[in-house]
Amino acid sequence: MIKNKLYFFGYGNMAEAIYLRIDKSSYENIFLIEKDNDRRAYIDKKKYSKTQILKNINNIKFNNSDIVILSVKPKQIKLICKEINSLILEKRDIPIIISIAAGITTSTIKNHITQNNLSNLQNHLNIYRAMPNLCAINGDGITGLYGKSKDEKKLNSSSIVSKIFNSVGEILWVKKESDLNIVTAISGSGPAYIFYIMDVMINSAKELGLNEGDAKKLVTKTVVGSGKMGESIQNLAEQISKVSSKGGTTEAAISLFNKKNLNLILNQAIKVAHSKSEEISQD
Ligand SMILES: NC(=O)c1ccc[n+]([C@@H]2O[C@H](COP(=O)([O-])OP(=O)(O)OC[C@H]3O[C@@H](n4cnc5c(N)ncnc54)[C@H](OP(=O)(O)O)[C@@H]3O)[C@@H](O)[C@H]2O)c1
Repeated sequence: MIKNKLYFFGYGNMAEAIYLRIDKSSYENIFLIEKDNDRRAYIDKKKYSKTQILKNINNIKFNNSDIVILSVKPKQIKLICKEINSLILEKRDIPIIISIAAGITTSTIKNHITQNNLSNLQNHLNIYRAMPNLCAINGDGITGLYGKSKDEKKLNSSSIVSKIFNSVGEILWVKKESDLNIVTAISGSGPAYIFYIMDVMINSAKELGLNEGDAKKLVTKTVVGSGKMGESIQNLAEQISKVSSKGGTTEAAISLFNKKNLNLILNQAIKVAHSKSEEISQD
């Protein structure tokens, strides 16, 4: 079996989350290309096996079975694509490219990579996008995936992409690239929404007299437990009514949520995040 080489361009928090959990035995070699000196020193200390840490792309030679993960900030993608462009001379030098940069479309990446000299290779690029979330760090993430390859049968690229992101949690392939804006507004930004609610609950518990540690324990266990239960509950609204006994505590809180239109506020916030994601994708 031919083993692929795997390249991370940029080794920040998300690249590290993925690197630490992937099955290293699937790759012939792994390259971490990181320009920040302190970050490279940090990786060096870990003494990872089968892994080379590089400052730049000098001496890299791609081939078709290689996989490149673009894991820099969105504004740094253009420069990385320019660097990748300089490594591609012909069709057989084109790796499978997976970008995790929020809001940068596959066509933008294609255009950046094939600028100047490579327009004839536009149709041969295999570009995928992944939108993981913060929970990937603990292996509990959900990643939205988009992309297709003309050489799917030969390269098996979609399963390679699936396998990488399955190592940090669940995956969800979307049919339209624009659906990644929904993924961004729901699961990409979602951990921050939940942290926001957790923070309000912890502060309320403290105001009512609990210490910080006890408040945090009650809230985190409630969120984790509810999330687990929520997976198998078919109708959440029905479940809420079931647990809100007439004249009881839950009913009192939920009816205040409804009176103050909390549902509308959350719905609008998610739509604002979605519009923002669309706007960034058009820049
Ligand atoms: N964190 C999340 O929850 C999350 C979720 C979904 C998607 N993403 C996406 O993941 C991407 C990475 O996010 P992150 O938080 O991991 O970013 P990050 O911590 O900034 O990591 C990127 C690293 O790449 C380095 N770098 C920049 N340009 C480079 C180049 N030309 N060659 C080599 N290394 C280079 C950066 O160095 P400098 O600091 O010196 O620039 C930095 O150390 C972003 O595009 C983001 O949209 C993140």
